Amino acid sequence: SAAPVTGNKRILLAAPRGYCAGVDRAVIAVEKALEHYGPPVYVRKQIVHNLHVVSTLEAQGAIFVDETDEVPPGALVVFSAHGVSPAVVQSAEDRGLRTIDATCPLVTKVHKEAQRFARDDFDILLIGHEGHEEVEGTAGEAPEHIQIVNGPEDVDKVQVRDPERLIWLSQTTLSVDETMLTVNLLRERFPTLQDPPSDDICYATSNRQAAIKKISPESDLVIVVGSANSSNSVRLVEVALEYGAKAAHRVDFANEVDESWFEGVATIGISSGASVPENLVQDVLRLLAEYGYGDVEEVVTAQEDIIFSLPKEIRAALKAMG
Ligand code: F3S
Repeated sequence: SAAPVTGNKRILLAAPRGYCAGVDRAVIAVEKALEHYGPPVYVRKQIVHNLHVVSTLEAQGAIFVDETDEVPPGALVVFSAHGVSPAVVQSAEDRGLRTIDATCPLVTKVHKEAQRFARDDFDILLIGHEGHEEVEGTAGEAPEHIQIVNGPEDVDKVQVRDPERLIWLSQTTLSVDETMLTVNLLRERFPTLQDPPSDDICYATSNRQAAIKKISPESDLVIVVGSANSSNSVRLVEVALEYGAKAAHRVDFANEVDESWFEGVATIGISSGASVPENLVQDVLRLLAEYGYGDVEEVVTAQEDIIFSLPKEIRAALKAMG
């Protein structure tokens, strides 16, 4: 006895959604490495946080490892889009590994900021999720200068040497709103806290959050396609609920969509995280159409035309081939 659906069944499809330029580049880097050098190509950590992407590359001959010491000496290893600390680069070098660095240029930008402010002897408050690969990589640039601030709850614990030499930086895939809240609380304690030279939360993260904010107030249900360890995907579910979606769920695949979610639901909002290929979203749309949600309106809040050139090691290899 499902509750009656009031209003016409429809889908609001958020745009931008899905692949960002950094993910696209990292995935192509592994594909090109496989093509050019042949398998196996080792990849340290998941190249991007998406189950489907990882299993597809595995089927093509990529081998995912947790650390470089699992890679045979002399073999080829790709560093993931989330970036690596200098210690990881060093350990790969010590082992004689050939490396391709697929770190997103927007993560590298944050690393450079960390290096620069550490050199100037600032205390750096890195807002981000402890244990996330990106945060480990960035913090590893200057462990003696960086403190990790997980969120508003950590603000009271922060200890600084000199409030005149204090800056915050952040992980690229956080909630824009929660990060601002954290910064405001930090600034109440330390009014001289400096802002990063440019936004560390990346364009893709903020654009996907802005798009989901637009569709959520009208959505009885929001479905976000993305993996559980994808920070920006998980944030999209939270943002949808904060902005008025009556319910919101994350799924890796269409077969995880549960029929019971549709009870009384007229409007379904759809988005996907920055590591999610569009075919997974199309699978969800096909399934929803079978339940009568075939009327799809795309709600576009921004145009994205950013493309990053491939990692330099890949460009060099392709060029040598002519
Ligand atoms: Fe880069 Fe942002 Fe994507 S940091 S990998 S463009 S989510």
